[in-house]
Amino acid sequence: MKKEMSDVSRLIPCSVVLLSTGNGTKMDVMTATSMFVSEKPPLFVVSVAKGHLTHTLIEETGHGVLNVASTAQVGLAKKLGSAHGEKVDKFKKFAIETEKAKMVKAPIIKGSFVSIECNVITSFPVSTYTAYLFEGVDFKVNKALSPLAWYLNRYYSLKDEAK
Ligand SMILES: Cc1cc2nc3c(=O)[nH]c(=O)nc-3n(C[C@H](O)[C@H](O)[C@H](O)COP(=O)(O)O)c2cc1C
Repeated sequence: MKKEMSDVSRLIPCSVVLLSTGNGTKMDVMTATSMFVSEKPPLFVVSVAKGHLTHTLIEETGHGVLNVASTAQVGLAKKLGSAHGEKVDKFKKFAIETEKAKMVKAPIIKGSFVSIECNVITSFPVSTYTAYLFEGVDFKVNKALSPLAWYLNRYYSLKDEAK
């Protein structure tokens, strides 16, 4: 089979985050992937396609919440990865429960493994995306839940420790 360079990104196991945004009036949430780039300060990178409502709201507010999806949210992660906030109110359509964040106007998505409230430190354009460097300013974790991972277009739970 021919090796396609564009397939290589699928070979990296990724986090699954429900990236929520909001300005106090309008809010949105989409599935994305994110990685940490520094522990102190806690910095994360996330790239968002230009034209998404998520992109518009991050540009407007300079913040967002990285809700790391739990295994119980796999169905929600799939739905939020294809529905567009410009066309549908995802919170109503998918009956998403939220709670107020402490430091930002974007909502916390209930049932997530950890919700990290973030401010944008800097951003730069990458092809049809904007890559955002987020700084975590508060977080809420539910250790009774387990995080989801994404690999080769499938979702996985992280059950067994490799030794
Ligand atoms: C597992 C998964 C990961 C995704 N990661 C990203 C991402 O990192 N950046 C992005 O722009 N879109 C990503 N998407 C696609 C968006 O979630 C999708 O386009 C969404 O409908 C955009 O929502 P919005 O238009 O309401 O902002 C991903 C989708 C899935 C299923």
